[in-house]
Amino acid sequence: MKVSLKACDVVIFGGGGDLAMRKLLPALYHLDMDGLLAKNTRIIGASRRDMSAADYQAKVRAALDEFVPKSIGDEKTWPRFKERLSYVSVDAQQESDFARFNDHNVGEDDKDVVFYLATSPDLFGSICSSLANNGLNQERMRVVLEKPLGRDLTSSRAINDEVTQNFGEKQIFRIDHYLGKETVQNLLAIRFGNTLFEPLWDSAHIDNVQITVSETVGVEGRWGYYDKAGALRDMVQNHLVQLLCLVAMEPPGRNDADSVRDEKIKVLKALRPIEGANAYTKTVRGQYAKGMINGKEVQGYFDEEGSNPESRTETFVALRADIDNWRWAGVPFYLRTGKRLGQRYSEIVIQYKSIPHSIFNDESNRQLQRNQLVIRLQPEEKISLTVMNKVPGAGEGMNLQPVDLNLSLSEAFQNKRSPEAYERLLLDVMRDDATLFMRYDEVEAAWKWVDGIMGAWNQTSERPKEYASGSWGPAASMALPIKDGRNWHDY
Ligand code: BG6
Repeated sequence: MKVSLKACDVVIFGGGGDLAMRKLLPALYHLDMDGLLAKNTRIIGASRRDMSAADYQAKVRAALDEFVPKSIGDEKTWPRFKERLSYVSVDAQQESDFARFNDHNVGEDDKDVVFYLATSPDLFGSICSSLANNGLNQERMRVVLEKPLGRDLTSSRAINDEVTQNFGEKQIFRIDHYLGKETVQNLLAIRFGNTLFEPLWDSAHIDNVQITVSETVGVEGRWGYYDKAGALRDMVQNHLVQLLCLVAMEPPGRNDADSVRDEKIKVLKALRPIEGANAYTKTVRGQYAKGMINGKEVQGYFDEEGSNPESRTETFVALRADIDNWRWAGVPFYLRTGKRLGQRYSEIVIQYKSIPHSIFNDESNRQLQRNQLVIRLQPEEKISLTVMNKVPGAGEGMNLQPVDLNLSLSEAFQNKRSPEAYERLLLDVMRDDATLFMRYDEVEAAWKWVDGIMGAWNQTSERPKEYASGSWGPAASMALPIKDGRNWHDY
């Protein structure tokens, strides 16, 4: 389905920064390549540096050459894309500089305007008030906020209060790029586009749910930022909790922003707090030490540039979450994420219950494996369903073995390029669809839950457990589901 778009001005604060160059501009370029940008849509980089439009175009071209070399190769889209690009030098803390957007006719002819704030969240408040004081907060103008949206409930509220003084909730788009991933959206298609799964989507049929986001990278030169955050704030509070919401929510009445978000907030409110002594039994924190990844020796957290050996910041977290509602009573949701693990992959595993009674009495069938639905987000996008099958052969008797029914998205849709998360999300902001963005009550509820865990961790003198780079995290993480008689799904 082609989406017809109104022309729009997209202004990127932090327009020369890493996120803009690596993700946002390549995403906009791909949208242009696919014919999804209207003719008069413009892209305006904004940052403190003095740069001409030509310098900015050259910088963007170099970034596209580096980050999307295959797409830029055909040279068809570039001349059109280049024409869209301009640049405004603005000090985000100098309100008078914002008049330059009017000089650049931002939002002229009643165009919609998207202000993408790819800056430090400390600047969100002042940017929004300077925009408003220059008449740039009209209804057709929206702001996109990048994470981190605070480091706890209090700081997140402070950011929100500042932004909402000048922009209404409907104009605020809080990004969680995991929601833009194709397979995450496919989760909605699987659940609500089929009759097959939904009747079996509850505690009567599901034994446990596992969500893993495993990274091989370390902190990548971001020690300063990362050490103030840690895996719980950087990954769990947003990406993993959002995935949990999509798995656990009730079917929304419609696929629109408020219907979906109304259901997600109910899940967040039903999350059982993990506080006090519970944090010891239900969570595991780890910090990576040196080790080997893909045959290469890599350094530990404390060998990274700028590190402080006193740091207790976790680079790994595993936890058991429980959702106290009718549908999920007694079903553990195991979440884990970490840096410098053995393999880069993200997946959601729905582990079904055992059959109530086996009619297959052969010794070899004692261990009938339970059905399992695996939704793999990356590196490949695929969905597989493990079912028990008879092993072929007359002499084999009724010998059963698990077999995967596999749906590989790249094979099923061979002539379709799978878009990056930011493509979908930028397109949605341009067409004013907030379904895949977080409403403030969701952010707040997620912080409340995470603050409970953080508070319990802060009360102990225990350090995060060390794990070798290239492993699957601390041994205690393996033990987490084992304590409940379960296991992590193997990669
Ligand atoms: C970001 C985190 O939000 O997500 C990073 O700040 C992390 O630390 C990244 O590496 C992971 O995203 P993806 O899409 O590569 O899984």
